[in-house]
Amino acid sequence: MSAQKRSILVTSALPYANGPLHLGHLLEQVQTDIWVRFQRSRGHECHYVCADDAHGTAIMLSAERQGITPEAQITRIHAEHSRDADDFLISFDNYYTTHSDENRHWCEYIYGKLRDGGHIVEREITQAFDPEKGLFLADRFIKGTCPRCHAPDQYGDNCEACGATYTPAELIDPVSALSGATPVEKQSRHFFLSLDKLEDMLREWIGSGTLQPAIANKLREWTDAGLQAWDISRDAPYFGFRIPGESDKYFYVWLDAPIGYMGSFQDYCDREGVAFDRFWRPGHDTELYHFIGKDIINFHGLFWPAMLHASGLRTPTGVFAHGFLTVNGTKMSKSRGTFINARSYLDHLDAEYLRYYFAAKLGGGVDDIDLNFEDFVQRVNSDLVGKVVNIASRCAGFLKKGHDNWLTDDCAEPALLDEFIAAGEQIAARYEEREFGKAMRDVVALADRANQYIDHHKPWVLARDPANAAEVQAVCSMGINLFRVIMVYLKPVLPAMAARAENFLNASLDWPELDQPLLGHQLRAFTPLMTRVDPTAVDALLAAGREAEPAADSGGQEKQDATRDSKRAKDGKAGKAKEKPGQAPDPNALADTISIDDFMRVDLRVARIQRAERVEGADKLLRLSLDLGELGEREVLSGIRAAYDPAALEGRLAVVVANLAPRKMRFGTSEGMVLAAGPGGEEIFLLSVDSGAIPGQRVT
Ligand code: 2FM
Ligand code: ZN
Repeated sequence: MSAQKRSILVTSALPYANGPLHLGHLLEQVQTDIWVRFQRSRGHECHYVCADDAHGTAIMLSAERQGITPEAQITRIHAEHSRDADDFLISFDNYYTTHSDENRHWCEYIYGKLRDGGHIVEREITQAFDPEKGLFLADRFIKGTCPRCHAPDQYGDNCEACGATYTPAELIDPVSALSGATPVEKQSRHFFLSLDKLEDMLREWIGSGTLQPAIANKLREWTDAGLQAWDISRDAPYFGFRIPGESDKYFYVWLDAPIGYMGSFQDYCDREGVAFDRFWRPGHDTELYHFIGKDIINFHGLFWPAMLHASGLRTPTGVFAHGFLTVNGTKMSKSRGTFINARSYLDHLDAEYLRYYFAAKLGGGVDDIDLNFEDFVQRVNSDLVGKVVNIASRCAGFLKKGHDNWLTDDCAEPALLDEFIAAGEQIAARYEEREFGKAMRDVVALADRANQYIDHHKPWVLARDPANAAEVQAVCSMGINLFRVIMVYLKPVLPAMAARAENFLNASLDWPELDQPLLGHQLRAFTPLMTRVDPTAVDALLAAGREAEPAADSGGQEKQDATRDSKRAKDGKAGKAKEKPGQAPDPNALADTISIDDFMRVDLRVARIQRAERVEGADKLLRLSLDLGELGEREVLSGIRAAYDPAALEGRLAVVVANLAPRKMRFGTSEGMVLAAGPGGEEIFLLSVDSGAIPGQRVT
């Protein structure tokens, strides 16, 4: 290991204080935490801070909807996020908020430097304004008919039906999504960060080798296309920091969010006596890393380094982007029960299963990561329980029985132990490069070797003859030492299991002590280190996800994420970077088989749509009153609003799952499901039957 002790500051992206953490957030926090714990275990000084991203219109409006102040909302969410992260064993040194005095201080400081350096320009811009709410409307708060394909109900910047991008002014019959009022055009003075004088610096930064190659290429594309000035102000009313010298203008949330890294670290330094400037002023031998999702590279790869540099602060040593999380092959989806909040996961499964699974799948690049639950159960049970824990459990009994838990004074096979220890350099290099999947493969290969060693010596056979007692002890002591080395390597991923192993081994699992085997050493009593994943707990988790939300109205976080992404792309002139999580459905995810008996249990019937109407407050739903003949009438909520004019549906025959248990949804109870095909949005096609069919007839 490197002799030089490094001083490192690490951050994960700041979650919005606008909803619960989901497994996408956890992918990032677990990735960062493993890296941080690895650095600490190697003896480096490694600080890890994060915070809630507490400002912006979305949070202001969400608080308003709940009838509470934004401050009350962000306080509640902060407590929830902190608790979730704790329970996933995320070892933040500080989990703060961007709504803090420290953040305000650094925002004003950086803004002052940018202004003094001539990087801030003022411009009058014309924007849509909601005359009823008295609010300027971001694109995503305007809806109307797509100017290209005429799909109704499209957001102000892009059409979900045909993919067109446009400005809200181009929408046909635009309305404010907040009040329904017709927006008016209004002028306002805005502040922009001009990147003109920072272009050379940015080119150098992008080419410096600091960034992952794929990210550097993407950023280069944007800089080559010419960087536009970035709008960093928003008009009142806005939940954020007022711009100094202005009475009704606020910093845009994306200006103060990355500065929030500094605010959180400042709070931590003040409390713990750590020297803040060492990590943020140039000229110190310290390192700064940001872990982020690949959808926010424009902020972290362009604006943020530009802001830091222009303010006389240091730029990051690395920005590490990861891919999106898909679940069972597709974008997390509420209807499939795969939109999983951190808390729901914890209600059913152990955090360390997921930490291990993510580690096993993560590489250093920006590939998307799929959480496939079958694979999850299989890997955790096979690798961790079947292989790693098995080494300890099969040796512990023999050592307890004849040897009062004492290990031998000598190592039975020093060469094998040396090989295990030597493997640590490659595993460490893999951790350093965030190639956790490769590190886990190396570790599992070692576990296989350890098990082979035990299989070869067969202590259970030797133990039949008391004359072999010393050999049994030697073999099992060797097994325990191999287990110990493996657990040192796994400790960054599995801190709780490592703590249980430390208790059993009666020794700490620290990397610097790797080459000091446990000899002439007494273990403590063996207790189970990890239990197998119960597949029924996974089923229960997915079922809970399905019940939690209506199928057709996936609203909330998913929509917010999607619109936010496209907004980002525009802000950053990243027009081509519209990657969205799980955009391409994986056909394999649909390939789970069911038996013919399962299929026969689905009662498909012909239904006549008697009435169809829009559901107040639900973007995607229609309420359908169905006539099922002998089965009576049913009311079904169906997510087909973008595809059908309700009036055109009345009188049509459709196919309905008639024996689906009624589901309580936010907008009422749905008593069945109408079958349709297509990717969504405007492209949903109701399955229909010939007009001769009779309502209530079975569909076979
Ligand atoms: O994308 C998001 O969820 C943002 N809240 C991330 C902010 S990261 C940093 F810049 F603060
Ligand atoms: Zn369109």
